[in-house]
Amino acid sequence: MAFEKNILCIGAGYVGGPTLAMIAHKCPQYRVTIVDINPIRIDQWNSDDLPIYEPGLDEIIKETRGRNLFFSTDIEKGIKESDIIFVSVNTPTKTFGAGAGMAADLQYWEKTARQIRKNAESPKIIVEKSTLPVKTALAMHRILTSTENEVRFEVLSNPEFLAEGTAIKDLENPDRVLIGSMETPEGLKARNELVEIYANWVPRERIITSNIWSSELSKLVSNAFLAQRISSINSISALCEKTDADITEVARAVGMDSRVGNKFLNASVGFGGSCFKKDILNLVYLCQYYGLEEVAEYWRGVVSINEYQKERFVLNMLSTMFNTLAGKRICLFGFAFKANTGDTRESPGIFIAGRLAEEKAEVVITDPEALKNAMADLDGLEAKISYVKDPYEASTGCDAIAVLTEWDIYADLDYGKIYESMTKPCFIFDGRNILDHERLFDIGFNVFPIGKPAMTHFS
Ligand code: UDX
Ligand code: UDX
Repeated sequence: MAFEKNILCIGAGYVGGPTLAMIAHKCPQYRVTIVDINPIRIDQWNSDDLPIYEPGLDEIIKETRGRNLFFSTDIEKGIKESDIIFVSVNTPTKTFGAGAGMAADLQYWEKTARQIRKNAESPKIIVEKSTLPVKTALAMHRILTSTENEVRFEVLSNPEFLAEGTAIKDLENPDRVLIGSMETPEGLKARNELVEIYANWVPRERIITSNIWSSELSKLVSNAFLAQRISSINSISALCEKTDADITEVARAVGMDSRVGNKFLNASVGFGGSCFKKDILNLVYLCQYYGLEEVAEYWRGVVSINEYQKERFVLNMLSTMFNTLAGKRICLFGFAFKANTGDTRESPGIFIAGRLAEEKAEVVITDPEALKNAMADLDGLEAKISYVKDPYEASTGCDAIAVLTEWDIYADLDYGKIYESMTKPCFIFDGRNILDHERLFDIGFNVFPIGKPAMTHFS
């Protein structure tokens, strides 16, 4: 069968994989190929054991793979055969040189642009999917047009707003799809072509267009606003713990104002994930670059409060457990940065497990999906950390449990049984406020939620 379009995605990660799989699922008339430099990743995408865990993804891959969705390592062939190229390679925080620790490392991005230029034999639309600093499209355009190669390229920005764990739902029914372009006739034509792809399943009023710089910046700002809400509520959780106010009650009262809204107001042990910290630091760096020191400082505060919240959680454990954790066994319930994913990038668990090990505690980590990643993250700490899939087994003989990820299963465990198997006195630090604190207290636990009065049996 002849396909209407050939679509390529470079970068088969958390973003590229699910996003392009959804396009293949909704648009059988297009041939979609996803390529990656990492052959192991491609083999996994071609197997029954996909490289990422995402509810609903398996079904879509089974339906489309081999029909109009293909995974390959042949990037050059993919470029030659495609009309539209989505670029979804990683853009981590720079670890060296100017902007180290803040700016985006664009080396993979630039390498990919050069690879496209070298192999392209026909006009192409290049779609930025990766989150990038505003003005990256300009650099991309300059690289693509800097040789004798006569091929025409149009660069579009189409940032991805999916959240992990709900990626398939978010892709199927997005709040909005944003497409930014140059405002030239060619730019607008390319933009319309991408609009038509999404219009196969997204209502047109939810496909919004803008100039390319607004689109690039909107992604950074969306993530900064979401993270800011979490840091705002987490900062107030500290005040609640000092004043006997209850953060859940405060969040409900504040969130019922329709101008504020009730989402993203769950106090927690801190936000994680590959995007929030990286994107805010990127925003901070951009503001500094343009001489906007006050604006930079304002957004830096969102990250600082998040670091504070994680450290506060550990210090609270230390002080309530009689100022020493040495030799104590502490079980971490959850290591993924959020529920329903195996992803642990920037997970608060990494910091907390490291700090507990520093305090010479013995840490037992349990998580339904993230243990493999946890082991890689905590490489070198084997002497202090063990990994046990079953939460009952993991907590046996422990002095304390700390809930770090809001997996549903942790709310439904038999805590009477768990209490019996633990060392007394028993402590629970609920870093997600998902447990029934009254019940745990009645069982005998000393309970320390986030932003709520603690419940202890000590006089
Ligand atoms: C990435 C970026 O980190 C994020 O900023 C952006 O918003 C979306 O793309 P993610 O998909 O989560 O997010 O990253 P990751 O899972 O690391 O996937 C990137 C893939 O690109 C990897 O599989 C990597 O092997 C591949 N890659 C990287 C290439 O194919 N070529 C390269 O040159 C570099
Ligand atoms: C985020 C954005 O939501 C998404 O639009 C963007 O494309 C990528 O970054 P993601 O990182 O997958 O998505 O997850 P998200 O649901 O935003 O959660 C991020 C972190 O914030 C998690 O650690 C989560 O546990 C935490 N969180 C979220 C809270 O602590 N409290 C909340 O109320 C909500």
